[in-house]
Amino acid sequence: MKKHIFLLIALVSVAIISAQEQSSISLRPDSAKQIINKNIYGHFAEHLGTCIYGGLWVGENSPIANINGYRKDVFEALKKLEIPVLRWPGGCFADEYHWMDGVGAKANRPKLVNNNWGGTVEDNSFGTHEFLNLCEMLGAEPYISGNVGSGSVEELAKWVQYMTSDSDNPMANLRRQNGREKAWKVKYLGVGNESWGCGGDMLPEYYSDLYRRYAIYCRNYDDNRLFKIASGASDFDYNWTDVLMKKIGNKMNGISVHYYTVTGWNGSKGSATQFTPDEYYWITGKCLDIEDVIKGHIAIMDKYDTKKNIALLVDEWGTWFDEEPGTVRGHLYQQNTMRDAFVAALSLNIFNKYSDRVKMANIAQIANVLQSMVLTRDDKMVLTPTYHVFEMYRVHQDALHIPLEITCATKEIRGRQVPLVSASASVKNNLTHISLANISLDSSQEITINLNAKATNITARILTSKNISDHNTFDKPETVKPADFKDFKLTGNTLKVKLPAKAIVMLEVK
Ligand code: AHR
Repeated sequence: MKKHIFLLIALVSVAIISAQEQSSISLRPDSAKQIINKNIYGHFAEHLGTCIYGGLWVGENSPIANINGYRKDVFEALKKLEIPVLRWPGGCFADEYHWMDGVGAKANRPKLVNNNWGGTVEDNSFGTHEFLNLCEMLGAEPYISGNVGSGSVEELAKWVQYMTSDSDNPMANLRRQNGREKAWKVKYLGVGNESWGCGGDMLPEYYSDLYRRYAIYCRNYDDNRLFKIASGASDFDYNWTDVLMKKIGNKMNGISVHYYTVTGWNGSKGSATQFTPDEYYWITGKCLDIEDVIKGHIAIMDKYDTKKNIALLVDEWGTWFDEEPGTVRGHLYQQNTMRDAFVAALSLNIFNKYSDRVKMANIAQIANVLQSMVLTRDDKMVLTPTYHVFEMYRVHQDALHIPLEITCATKEIRGRQVPLVSASASVKNNLTHISLANISLDSSQEITINLNAKATNITARILTSKNISDHNTFDKPETVKPADFKDFKLTGNTLKVKLPAKAIVMLEVK
């Protein structure tokens, strides 16, 4: 009897360990028509906690290795991501930022109190020149978020002139006096941030009028052409988008939307590293809701702008959990696990799909804040699982999007069905890339992919880990990192991939 029970337990364990689902994906290369704007792989750096000071910038006199004040380890890690666009200086911070305080001799720059984020005192040593020079070094387009909430039209208009004019005028001359002869190229200009909330607590009708005033005085100097972005809605606030589309229309080049993957805004948002399977699936479901949010805003935009001239920019997105115990309140420093890697992979797959309207997305934030790429402590730095997703997904930047259909099992969680497989495909330079994610914690997926095109050679990389809560720490920085992946077989146009549980894979098909 004992022997039988043992056998039964052994069989059940084998069944659990080797649980496997069947899924299928069909690529439609013939219907491909849309380029995935590389700016979907954009980033966001706010004066918040240690994102700027300690994260990107340590100053020229720091004992921490730096290149003219920029942290060397962080800079080198970010350079590898091929960051297309970087948004700065906020966030909520932007609507209290006065750019004149951050230019000129550092010793003369006034200190500021960061009212939004923990009351931290900052010395303004990272200002316009430091930001725009960093963008140049990274090869990223700068995206300036202007102060509408507590600033003035004149202040923002002068900032634009300071940055972008090569003529003989007071602001361009001030810039020259401050050490920069040639104007920078600044394309993306955000007219306020979250103007319905921390950016001025406005109603959409009032904001629309204000936007129009700001937009008219923020001019194009020489050959610099501004791409003006209206401060958009949060989540499902479709009325905000509707009013702005009606009242601003084509006086804006883009409108933003913010969506955070968060359990809720009141009370605890849950630990970034300690969570149950139920909480994991719930968060993936919350993440997938971003597709409904995007579809909802696009539907409104389509009503007013059938030719899709106005872009939708998801210029803040990512996970938001409780701050790490022991860190400063208001600094939004959170760890980053494989769960965050899934939120990144799923979100990017969705943005790619709507690339006919979604022209930019900026994950929040680049260092030490929310769903960051890197975490730093003193002179140490770790790459997060989210960093690895961005590194693997670089190949989708500016590639031709290939539509696809997925058939897969779902997981029921608190009454909702979460599809277990997510995917996206694109082609560039005769290389097709397919990003796959198996959300399941316990079942592998045998995915049959109909490429609907000839293939000769395939290589792949995988991001996975033993536990979904695994993350990289300063003591163990390489717990989660990509590896080569070979569990696939090509027969004719059909590719069979065995995707382990909780794994993200990037396939390269030649
Ligand atoms: O990214 C953190 C904050 O979230 C930003 O400052 C704000 O725009 C949003 O509410």
